[in-house]
Amino acid sequence: MSAAYFIAGTDTDVGKTTVAAGLLHAAQLAGLSTLGAKPVASGCEVTPKGLRNSDALALMAQSTVKLPYERINPFAFEPAIAPHLAAREAGVDLSVAGLLGPMREVLAQGADFTLIEGAGGWRVPLSHHANLSDLAIALKLPVILVVGVRLGCISHALLSAEAIARDGLQLAGWVANIVDPRTSRLEENLASLAERLPAPCLGRVPKLKIASAEAVAEHLQIDLLD
Ligand SMILES: Nc1ncnc2c1ncn2[C@@H]1O[C@H](COP(=O)(O)OP(=O)(O)OP(=O)(O)O)[C@@H](O)[C@H]1O
Ligand SMILES: [Mg+2]
Repeated sequence: MSAAYFIAGTDTDVGKTTVAAGLLHAAQLAGLSTLGAKPVASGCEVTPKGLRNSDALALMAQSTVKLPYERINPFAFEPAIAPHLAAREAGVDLSVAGLLGPMREVLAQGADFTLIEGAGGWRVPLSHHANLSDLAIALKLPVILVVGVRLGCISHALLSAEAIARDGLQLAGWVANIVDPRTSRLEENLASLAERLPAPCLGRVPKLKIASAEAVAEHLQIDLLD
């Protein structure tokens, strides 16, 4: 098996990294080599080694293929703002061409299971001219959609799925991440998502006390992926 997926979310903060780390852990438990990358990260800490982003570090921690930090997070910005604005403030030209090389190298490592996490929702801009979805398109990656389950998520999920399909990419699966367990009619909402999303549900992740990769992996089924 050598599979790679783009991890998208219905929004920022819906659990893309949490679920991606869980998926990478589940893959490791299945005996697969793993590699996770976060091509563009805003919201980074200044460290003596350079800017570091917690998403990228979480993905690295669940990667059996070890690469230097800069290879899995080539574009890092300090302020926790939209990437195109962070890049503009930093005077950095954020483009699909600039991301393609590093991400092709990530994919060329040939890990059995590779995940590339986006940022925010599906149509997050990189610049005036491009969106991060253009990277997924250029890499022809199938997409795993993390749905942050709360009131309003059905429309966000269906619009994301429609955009992914219109962009010519396969929705390989989706994950219900129960970010708000008090969502009214939770079961009915989950059933409505399952009826309408054209891909298998890889799992339902409850709101966990500690959302570690190990704990999240218990709720995910990677064997439902093609
Ligand atoms: N199932 C869960 N149970 C408990 N906490 C969770 C769960 N899923 C996510 N969280 C928490 O919610 C916060 C946001 O999750 P996460 O960072 O994975 O979102 P994201 O979609 O990757 O965000 P970003 O858009 O910044 O990349 C984190 O603090 C994470 O620990
Ligand atoms: Mg994240």
